[in-house]
Parts: sequence; C-alpha cells; structure tokens
Amino acid sequence: PGTWHEAAALSALNEGEPYGIEIGRHHVALYRVGNEYYATSNICTHAEALLSDGILEGCEIECPLHMGRFDIRTGEALTSPVEIDIRTYPVRVAGDRLEVCLP
Ligand code: FES
Repeated sequence: PGTWHEAAALSALNEGEPYGIEIGRHHVALYRVGNEYYATSNICTHAEALLSDGILEGCEIECPLHMGRFDIRTGEALTSPVEIDIRTYPVRVAGDRLEVCLP
C-alpha cells in the first residue's frame, strides 16, 4: 500500500544535486543518478540533518552534519556515525514529472 504523489519536475532533478521536498508530514529527498531516480527520507537517522543539504557521490549520500553515509538505493547506513538505515520510497516517472509513493 501507499499513495503516489507528484514529487518534482524531472527538469528540477540534476545529477549530483539532492532535492528536498515536503509532502504532508513527509520530508523526502530525491536523487538522480544517470537516468535513474531514487527517493529516501530526507532526515538523517543520526541527528536529524537534512540529507538534501549533503553531498551525493554515486549512489551514496553523505550527511552534511557528521558525514555519515547511506546507500540511496537501499537506505542502508554505511559509515559511522550513522547506524540506523533511512527509509526509501518507490518512485516512478509520469511524463515529465517524478512521482513518489508514500505510506
Ligand atoms: Fe547525519 Fe550526524 S546528523 S551524520
């Protein structure tokens, strides 16, 4: 289950530039890697920094506050000090927009 929401224009999503949005109570970070798109929670599980302010390298997002890293494909916490995985959300392309499925 979950509900699809319009998230962003594809033209707003640039490689290497995480893009933060809010949909209702959800803070979501969108990412583009080549022609693939991903979405995760935008809130770091360590101390609540916004991952959309961090640096995306390949499929790893580095938190701007303490440099913990997550895999944006799986949400897996990769490097200290982050230990708790972040949520990931399904995305799909609809025309020239990206949609995200939220619980
Ligand atoms: Fe993200 Fe500390 S807030 S690593």
